[in-house]
Amino acid sequence: MITLGIETSCDDTSAAILENDDTILSNIISSQDTIHKPFGGIVPELASRRHMECITPVVDQALSEAKISFDDIKLVSVTQGPGLIGSLLVGFSYAKALSYTLAVPFIGVDHMTGHILSAFLEKNVPAFPYIALIVSGGTTALYQADGFMDYKLLGRTRDDAAGEAYDKVARLLGLGYPGGPVISAHGEKGNPSSLKFPRAWLEEGSLDFSFSGLKTAVMNHCNKSRMKDGLIDISSVCASFQEAVVEVLVEKTIAAAKQKGLDRIVLGGGVSANERLRKLMSSKCSEDGIELFLPAQENCTDNAAMIAFSGLKRFQSGMIGSLDDDVFSRSHLGQ
Ligand code: KG4
Repeated sequence: MITLGIETSCDDTSAAILENDDTILSNIISSQDTIHKPFGGIVPELASRRHMECITPVVDQALSEAKISFDDIKLVSVTQGPGLIGSLLVGFSYAKALSYTLAVPFIGVDHMTGHILSAFLEKNVPAFPYIALIVSGGTTALYQADGFMDYKLLGRTRDDAAGEAYDKVARLLGLGYPGGPVISAHGEKGNPSSLKFPRAWLEEGSLDFSFSGLKTAVMNHCNKSRMKDGLIDISSVCASFQEAVVEVLVEKTIAAAKQKGLDRIVLGGGVSANERLRKLMSSKCSEDGIELFLPAQENCTDNAAMIAFSGLKRFQSGMIGSLDDDVFSRSHLGQ
């Protein structure tokens, strides 16, 4: 069973070939970071235009790396949403056209399910039920996954996503885009407890998140420092900001597991590539006897292998897409 996965929800054009449900034959990702870098964030119109240029060569490369041809494809699985409509439409239209031409089924998947299931791309796979923390540039959410098709949304951000906070703080510090890797690199050189930035715990027992107050606190600190002596200790700001983000993500995820009486946690999304998050989550999970499943760092960010896997599971449960299906910008998964 060969599945072609296609992902164009945001700023990466990706195509992957999955054999059965456990062997990734190829997973090609064409990043648009250099295109959006000068703007300090993603410019939707530039993103969709670049997807148009890349989709055909990226799929061709996925086939050639997997050493298969179009005729071997038995299912086309594609991200249907959430994301930027212009970007989604490129992959979605390509997938429909290809499935029509090859006379094979196509299936649209919610991008979030890709991240929730990305731990299944590793050797040591989780059993259901588990708690999934999905942290990316567009989302921060906690889900309970009870099966391949069975999710409950437990909490989500009320304002900025964690990755968005990284990107905005990096922009205000003049560190470029994307913010996550560069803040993490500077943070390693700084003292995480040197500056007291706020943690938004919200109401007692809440599993929602909020990062906009933290971003404002960093901005105020930088403005004050500039007015005082013009100097900003970038490493201390990055380390302290990162600690504030990571502490809340870890505490709330463990709280979700305890509230639901579950002892398995899965991470997914671009921010789950963060070393400090992975380290703190690992140590807190082992203290609490919780088993932690971390996707390899290259499977944390947007990629088509997770979309191929998620689509295959939908297909195996009897679902199938229609040429009348359309893309969506917001996810209602598990609500
Ligand atoms: O899941 P993802 O690839 O897609 C989007 O949501 O677009 O996540 C991208 C986000 C960006 O905000 C980026 O700054 C963040 O993930 N990110 C990181 C790291 N690597 C990427 N954040 C923190 N630490 C990292 N190492």
